[in-house]
Amino acid sequence: MIENIERIRDEARSQISSAPDPHELDRIRVHYLGKKGLLTGLLHQLKDLTPDKRKEMGAVLNQVKSDTENHIDRRQTELARIEIERELTKTPSLDLTLPGQYAVHLGSVHPVNRVIDQCVQALKRVGYSVATGPEVELEYYNFEALNTPDDHPARDVQDTFYIDPPVLLRSHTSPVQIRTMKAQKPPVQILAVGKVYRSDYDLTHTPMFHQIEGLMVDDNISLADLKGTLYYLVKSLFGARPLRFRPSYFPFTEPSAEVDMQCISCKGNGKDCRMCKSTGWVEIGGCGMVHPNVFKAVGYDPDVTSGFAFGMGMERITMLKYGIDDLRSLFENDHRMLEQF
Ligand code: PHE
Repeated sequence: MIENIERIRDEARSQISSAPDPHELDRIRVHYLGKKGLLTGLLHQLKDLTPDKRKEMGAVLNQVKSDTENHIDRRQTELARIEIERELTKTPSLDLTLPGQYAVHLGSVHPVNRVIDQCVQALKRVGYSVATGPEVELEYYNFEALNTPDDHPARDVQDTFYIDPPVLLRSHTSPVQIRTMKAQKPPVQILAVGKVYRSDYDLTHTPMFHQIEGLMVDDNISLADLKGTLYYLVKSLFGARPLRFRPSYFPFTEPSAEVDMQCISCKGNGKDCRMCKSTGWVEIGGCGMVHPNVFKAVGYDPDVTSGFAFGMGMERITMLKYGIDDLRSLFENDHRMLEQF
């Protein structure tokens, strides 16, 4: 009997070790350990033996039985591990923690828009609200109501793009002043931002550029208010800087001035300075007290109403702020340039 047991044990072992899958393993279990299994059959045969033999064989048989069970359990664990490994290597697995294959390029705010935003934020803090107007404008708003009649030389100065007179592309943001004042009574404290167009193209001019325009109207506005506002705006863009107000001329303001800021590159000493062409000052915009004729055009009483207005070119401010010396680089959309902001 002992040889029989050993033969069955060895045979079971080799079958278990080479069982290819859990299904086959189960079949082997039934074959040896099931109710009608080979080892179970041998257990039934014990009753035919002498008590001594039965005890001896019983012990051997139980040992073989439990060894076989352990063997099957181990193979089962092994097969489960093999199955998992096979699953993992079958198709390229998706690992969400791996870095992506392609770099993600994030866009950024264009430097001109960045400067516009800064101006808007600064002026909003002191009570301005943003007003808008059309880019395709009428002569009346762009010139006439701004005290610039037909034969006025300023109409030529600005090299206006006409679509079909009196329709034109606005040459400045000042028509927004007229539209706003016609729509509301004083006090007015607005800020107009946007694209303006002039037939001009060289190193320092593009046919389209951005302006920001401030207008403050009430019954007691003075030149001091205008200056204070410009000092404040410049401070929020460049840090506190000396300003210079040069008498100038605009049809819609009186008195008028051009505003110069002390050069941020040479700090005003002008030595071999490219930014200010060695003058120590850079021009940043135009301004003045609203002309009485403008008030008349919008139906305000110039005897009780006073106000100031100022305008600035945003490309110019951007170039000064970031030390850009070619205006065209703001329009080329070259990523290598824009990525620096
Ligand atoms: N509109 C003027 C220009 O484009 C600038 C300006 C605005 C001047 C407001 C005075 C007051 O040149």
